[in-house]
Amino acid sequence: MSMQDFWDDVFANDRSEWVAPHPPSYFLEYLARLGNGFPERLASARSVLDVGPGRALLLRSLPDSIAKYAVEVSEVNRESLRLAGIRTELPASAVDLAWSVSCFPHCPDFTKTVLMRDVADALRPGGLFFVECVEQRPGFSDAIDETIRLPAGRYVMPMSRMLELGRAHGLEPVASLGEIQFGERCPVQGYIICFQKPHES
Ligand SMILES: C[S@@+](CC[C@H](N)C(=O)[O-])C[C@H]1O[C@@H](n2cnc3c(N)ncnc32)[C@H](O)[C@@H]1O
Repeated sequence: MSMQDFWDDVFANDRSEWVAPHPPSYFLEYLARLGNGFPERLASARSVLDVGPGRALLLRSLPDSIAKYAVEVSEVNRESLRLAGIRTELPASAVDLAWSVSCFPHCPDFTKTVLMRDVADALRPGGLFFVECVEQRPGFSDAIDETIRLPAGRYVMPMSRMLELGRAHGLEPVASLGEIQFGERCPVQGYIICFQKPHES
C-alpha cells in the first residue's frame, strides 16, 4: 500500500486513531511549550502553513483574513481542506508562520527532504517553522511498534536528523525543546524545533 493510499484510507474511513481530533487549543498549548512565542506569532500572522494537518482544526479555527495553506499527501483530505478554504498549492516566500505536528516521521527520507524544501521555499524571510516529532526512547522499540506502527515501520525521526535537514535547506534553528514525554501508554518522547528563514541581507 502506498503512503497516499494509507492516508486516503485514514481520512475516507475516519480512522481517528491516526488523526486524533485535537482541538485547536491542543496545538496552541503544545507548540507554546517551546516558549518561542507560537501563540503570539499566530495572532499576528497573515499567512500560515500546516504540514500534515490531519483534520486541520487549528487552521479551520483561524479568521478568513488569514491566508491558510496545507501540505497533505491524502487527496481525500486535500479535497476536504480545499472546501474549507485552505489552499494546497504553496506560495513562494510569503508564509509568516508554518508548523508541523507528527508528520515528518511518517515520511520516507526523500519525502522529508521535499517537505523541508517546500517549507523553506514557502516561508518569507524571517518566517518561522515550528516542527514537532516523536523520537524513540531507548529500549522501547517493541512498544512503539505496537502503539503507532505505520506500513513501512516509519514512526520516529531523531532530533539531530531534523536539525540537519532544516540547516541543509537554509533554515536556522532558533529554539528547541527535547525529551517531551507522552505518558506511559505511548512510551516515546518528542521534541519541537523552531527554525527561522534568515532575513535577506
Ligand atoms: C499522524 S497525522 C497528524 C495530524 C495532525 N498534525 C495532528 O497532529 O493531529 C499525519 C498527517 O500527515 C499527513 N502526511 C503523511 N505523509 C505525508 C506526506 N508525505 N506529505 C504531506 N502530508 C503527509 C497525513 O495525511 C496526516 O494528515
